[in-house]
Amino acid sequence: MSHQPVLLKEVIANLKPEKDGTYLDGTFGAGGYSRAILEAVQCNLFAIDRDESAKKFAEKLTKNFPDHFVFLSGKFSESERLLNEQNAPKLDGMVFDIGVSSMQLDDRSRGFSFDSEAKLDMRMDQNSFPSAFEVVNESSEKELAQIIKEFGDEPKARQIAKKIIAARAVKPITTCQDLAQIVRSLYYGYSKTDPSTRTFQALRIFVNQELEELKAALASSLTLLKKGGRLVVVSFHSLEDSIVKNFLKEESGLSQTFSRYQPISEQQNSSKNFHVLTKSAISPTAEEIAANPRARSAKMRVAVRI
Ligand SMILES: C[S@@+](CC[C@H](N)C(=O)[O-])C[C@H]1O[C@@H](n2cnc3c(N)ncnc32)[C@H](O)[C@@H]1O
Repeated sequence: MSHQPVLLKEVIANLKPEKDGTYLDGTFGAGGYSRAILEAVQCNLFAIDRDESAKKFAEKLTKNFPDHFVFLSGKFSESERLLNEQNAPKLDGMVFDIGVSSMQLDDRSRGFSFDSEAKLDMRMDQNSFPSAFEVVNESSEKELAQIIKEFGDEPKARQIAKKIIAARAVKPITTCQDLAQIVRSLYYGYSKTDPSTRTFQALRIFVNQELEELKAALASSLTLLKKGGRLVVVSFHSLEDSIVKNFLKEESGLSQTFSRYQPISEQQNSSKNFHVLTKSAISPTAEEIAANPRARSAKMRVAVRI
């Protein structure tokens, strides 16, 4: 399935691309946001993706907008370096659509999906190391339990880790289905959601260092955006959304903590680098969710650099 951009109208309405402005799409994917930005107004756009397979979508936009679009291969945590190498000016806006694309999820050979026969992999950047195969077959029981608990919020994380260790003592756990079976064997009579979903999410987040990447991208917005520049972040699960929410709270001066040992006048305000436009996160409409169920957990937060 091709990737249907999530909250597209809302993203463009909040990024507000302006004529001759310079923008960054940090998660190019199939280029849904990038195309809409370039079609909205004549502006300049840099786009980043760490997945080589995004390049073929970028080529189309490069052909259509040769003087206004530049695609950069790499991680969005490296945005500062990648943009400096292009002598990019300060940005009028940055957008991140955090997570995996439909192309990545649906391409079974990429080893993201629990019902795939493919080798465990889950790397967005196929040149990176380790893949889920190495993590599952080489981490200690304690490490596995920690990963599955922390990034999957899995109540049976310790039991799953124990089972993984026992299974791989016999032979390596090679395919997605092999791993899914191990997790399912600890759950009887599940109905709606496959119980291995949480373990797969945890491994994916760990393999791609997704939370560290997000923190680095948010931090880079402080130096990359010009005053008045807009930051738009769409995320898909609560771990990501709370990172965005806490960053914006901190950087908009809303996370002041008062010490009762110091007079108020001597207490430090936390920094004021952003004005937050979304008091609560924006979610997709019921119509969008009906048309694209993968949008259901999306949350968008928007802030302006001050
Ligand atoms: C949800 S998709 C974006 C879809 C895009 N908005 C569209 O409309 O087609 C996320 C994309 O971001 C990329 N990505 C995720 N984390 C990244 C990171 N840390 N650095 C660079 N690209 C990343 C993934 O490879 C994937 O292609």
